[in-house]
Parts: sequence; C-alpha cells; structure tokens
Amino acid sequence: MDIIDRLNGDHRTLKQFLAVMNEEGASDVARRRSLSHFKRLYYAHSVAEEMVVYNALEGRMPQWNDLAHIGHAEHNVATELLTRLSEAGEEPAEDWDHDARLLEEIVCGHIDDEEAEMVPAVQEFFGSADRASMIDRYDRAKKIALTDLSEDPAAQTASASS
Ligand SMILES: [Fe+2]
Ligand SMILES: [Fe+2]
Repeated sequence: MDIIDRLNGDHRTLKQFLAVMNEEGASDVARRRSLSHFKRLYYAHSVAEEMVVYNALEGRMPQWNDLAHIGHAEHNVATELLTRLSEAGEEPAEDWDHDARLLEEIVCGHIDDEEAEMVPAVQEFFGSADRASMIDRYDRAKKIALTDLSEDPAAQTASASS
C-alpha cells in the first residue's frame, strides 16, 4: 500500500459520486446526498493532493510546472461549480443538471490526466519507502481539511488550492 493506492482509491470514489449525481432516474435526495459526499471528499482530496503530491513533484520534472498550473486551475473551476450546485436551492432543476454534468466532465478529465501523468511520475521519482511514507502526511492533511470544513462553513466554498 502506498500513496498511489490512496490517490487511485479517492479518484474511483469521486467518480462513483459523480455518476450517481448524473444518473438518470436517481432521486433528487440521492443526487443531493451524492453531491454532499463528493464535496467533502473532493475538498479533502484536493488539499492533501496539492500539499503532499504536487509539492513533492515540484522541481522533479521539467513539465511539472505546466501540469501543476493546469491541475490547480481545474481544482478551482470544480470548486466554483460545487459552490453553485450547493447553493442552487430552488433554482430550476435543468441548471443543476447542466452544472452537475459539467462537473463530471471536468473532474473525470482531470482525474484521467492525473492518472496518466502525475501518478506515473510519482512512481518514477519516488521509491516504495517514500511512497509509503507519503500516506501518513496525505491522511493527516485530509483529516485537517475535513476538520476545517466542519468548523468553518466559509471553507466549504473556498478554493482547495488557496
Ligand atoms: Fe487533482
Ligand atoms: Fe486527484
């Protein structure tokens, strides 16, 4: 078990929540509940991923700056959409559906890119002991992010990378 298992595991779970949010025939309650689960995990995952993985790769590969820039931007765009979805209230359901579909496209594309470029880079530049030790820092960062989220409602809509 190392950091790569953690990243891939979170990515799988995030995709599952997005699938329920966009599932035809799913109840409004199920879709909203999935949004709420997605939001917590996405926030914690993005914060921990940036702190532990993005930072570790800085300076390790020439193209990392570009990849990190895009990664941060995609985290931010998804966070903005999440804010809109969460605050939609009585907005027309069609708008919510469009935003949920867009969120799925952006986040799934982002995850696929990370798994095609970032995850292999972690494998290449860090040995198995380093990758295993990243788990502790990653889990701790996620826990702190979740505590911040429950203690500070403003953080729920804040950018994951700010
Ligand atoms: Fe990410
Ligand atoms: Fe990720």
